[in-house]
Parts: sequence; C-alpha cells; structure tokens
Amino acid sequence: MTDNGPILVTGAAGQLGAVGRTVCGLLRDRGLPVRAMVRREDDRAAALRAVGAEVVVGDLLEPADVYRVVSGCRRVYFGMSVSAGYLEATVTMAVVAREVGVDAVVNMSQMTVSQMSIQKTTSSGQQRQHWLSEQALAWSALPVVTIRPTMFLESFSPLAAPTVRARGRIEVPFGRGKTSPVAAADVARVVAAVLADPGPHLGRIYELTGPRSQDMHAVAREFSDALNREITYFDIPAEDWERELKKAGLPEHLTRHLVAMGELHRAGRYDRLADGVERVTGRPAIGVREFVSLKADDFGGRRS
Ligand SMILES: NC(=O)c1ccc[n+]([C@@H]2O[C@H](COP(=O)([O-])OP(=O)(O)OC[C@H]3O[C@@H](n4cnc5c(N)ncnc54)[C@H](OP(=O)(O)O)[C@@H]3O)[C@@H](O)[C@H]2O)c1
Repeated sequence: MTDNGPILVTGAAGQLGAVGRTVCGLLRDRGLPVRAMVRREDDRAAALRAVGAEVVVGDLLEPADVYRVVSGCRRVYFGMSVSAGYLEATVTMAVVAREVGVDAVVNMSQMTVSQMSIQKTTSSGQQRQHWLSEQALAWSALPVVTIRPTMFLESFSPLAAPTVRARGRIEVPFGRGKTSPVAAADVARVVAAVLADPGPHLGRIYELTGPRSQDMHAVAREFSDALNREITYFDIPAEDWERELKKAGLPEHLTRHLVAMGELHRAGRYDRLADGVERVTGRPAIGVREFVSLKADDFGGRRS
C-alpha cells in the first residue's frame, strides 16, 4: 500500500446517479489525489482530468485492468452501473485490493440488503448480487465501509420525466407504498467524507434515505410545489411498466431490477428512514422538492 497514493474512484464517468463522478470532484475540492477509473476515453474523461483527477481506462470485469488501476492506491470507492456482472466485479476488486493492500474500500450497495437474509431475498438479481457482494467483502477481511442508499432521486429523471413533461403525471407502479428517495449528490457527499478520513467509519454500514417517507401522491405534491403546476401520481399496472421498459431497450438485468423495485415499493419495503447522510456529513439530506427544483428543466421547467 502507498500511504500517500491516490484514492481510486471506479465508475467515475457517471451515467445515472454519477456518484463516482461527484465523489471525484468532492475529493479534489479537498485537495486529495484522485485516480478516476472510466471505461473509455470521451468528454467525460476529459472533464475528470479538468478537475485534476488522474484518469485511467479499464474494465472492472478484467482482473488485469483492476490490478493495474488499484496498484499504488491507498483507498478505493467501488461502484458501477446496475449490471449482470456486479458480483464478479466486486469479488475481482476484493481479490485485487487484498493483494495490493489498501486502507479502506467504500462499497456501494443498496438499502434493500438491510432486509435480506438467506431466507429472505428479492427477485432483483442486482439486489441479490449486492447481498452476496457484502458477504464476500466481509469474508475478505478488507477494511470495508458499506453504503446502502435507498432509491436515488435521480431515478425519477429517466423513470418519470417523460410523463411529467408530456402530461403532468408520474406514472410508476408503486401502489400506495411509501418511499424516501435520496439524492445521489448526498450519497456522494457521504462517500467522499468517508474516503477522506476512513478510520472512524471502518466496518460500519450507512443506510441513506431522503428526509421523508411518503406515498407517491405526496411525492407528486412536492413535484407540484417545485414546478408550480399540478403534477399527479398515476399508479400503473406492473405489466405495463415492464412492457415500456422493454420497449425502451433496457438490458434485461436492469429491467428485472426495476420491476422488482416496483413490487417492493407496493409491498411497503421502501418505507424506510435513516439518518446516514446527516450523521456522516453533518448536513441533512435534500428532499423531493429541492431536487426537482434543481432539475426543473428535466421535468419540463417551472411555471412562472
Ligand atoms: N439508482 C438507484 O436508485 C440506486 C439506489 C441505491 C443504490 N444504487 C447503486 O448505485 C450504483 C450505481 O451508482 P451510480 O448510479 O452512481 O452509477 P452510474 O452513474 O450508473 O455510473 C456507473 C459507471 O460504471 C461504469 N461501468 C459499468 N460497467 C463497468 C465495467 N465493467 N468496468 C468499468 N466501469 C464500468 C459505467 O461506465 P459507462 O458510463 O462507460 O457505461 C458508469 O459510468 C449501483 O451499485 C446501484 O446498485 C443505485
């Protein structure tokens, strides 16, 4: 291990939550050296260089790539897109991090894992892989900090923005289930704080939610307040949602995960509140209204 080596941030180009990309910026703001791992050279890689990160290209499913990018680093943030190879990538990272020797691995997981066990699982392959990944990291005896966020507020952009723009409706099959989505920017603030000074956090699990757990009608009211026009919630049949997701050409693994997320919402499994954001960063998590206000353009803009 290199005591003053860079902090490796995987999945740094960002796609949905872009936690890795935000973490890179936050660490650079603190003057810490960052190695940002991306899958390919593009303008996102150039943007990471512009904030002072060392950019490395590699595939988290290729052990030799992972060894090359981890070598010389003292700490690792491990996160990548929801994808079928997640468990393989996690175990590959664990093997390499043990070989190289690092003083902290901050592992992105999901809040649903808190309710999972050998006897109680979910139909999402992604959640099953996160559960197994956490087990494997525990066996690895690496110094791990586990981050378990609930659904990201950013998920509303792909999932709800088109219908909010087109007809002022959030159309998801969440029934009357309550939800407490958290901003990926808040998740990134937690990850960056832990990476900057991992000592007090080692071995801990941080559950992260937004500030309120409420049903989708209440979420729609927060959208209305933020956009200054009426937004309503329309509970669609799960089959319709699945058909739309497939039509959009999403990978099967992601579609199955989103369908499971809908089922779990209906079953009340996203009705959770946790204070991890404030506990780690000292600042409360932002809520739906603040998030939608910040992203108003995604949702068709705020009426003046
Ligand atoms: N979205 C949610 O609601 C939610 C909630 C709780 C937890 N999570 C967890 O958050 C994580 C996703 O975080 P995020 O939204 O910040 O990620 P993201 O924005 O989707 O970015 C992930 C990055 O991983 C990269 N990547 C994918 N496969 C790779 C590979 N084989 N090798 C190297 N890089 C690879 C992608 O590269 P490209 O851009 O080049 O494809 C992408 O830039 C997942 O673990 C998910 O389970 C998500």
